[in-house]
Amino acid sequence: MELYKEIERIIENLEDKNNELEVLEFIQKNQGYISKDMIKFVAEKMDKFDFSVENTIKFYPHLKGEGKQIIEVKVCTHTACANNGSRKILEEAKNILGVETDGITSDGKYKLMTQRCFGQCGKGPNVKIGDEIYNKMTPKILANLLKK
Ligand code: FES
Repeated sequence: MELYKEIERIIENLEDKNNELEVLEFIQKNQGYISKDMIKFVAEKMDKFDFSVENTIKFYPHLKGEGKQIIEVKVCTHTACANNGSRKILEEAKNILGVETDGITSDGKYKLMTQRCFGQCGKGPNVKIGDEIYNKMTPKILANLLKK
């Protein structure tokens, strides 16, 4: 509910009341993508048609509508992985993606998270990207995997 209030506040303060880009970027930053419900909400609050908001999302390549899934990057920070250098991996992930833990990249592609153990403690540091777990992660390998 807080999110909806914040969106309303942004809409009220828009310099150009006809330009929803800033609102859509805010939603994506918080949710990773712009859902149909959010499109409806923004359209209603800005007195627009849903399709007009949808067209704005299509127009800007960095905006994601429903169906484009966000990729979760989970760095294991539990004991064994931490002893194997996962803190360094987490810092590297923050640098590469330009976000803090639980942050979503500005293009809405990745969300950086931490995880307490994948059950593969002997092979750490471990990072899960999407559905895949990568063992013995290094900053260099991570940089290659997250290349945009
Ligand atoms: S501590 Fe990282 S997988 Fe178990």
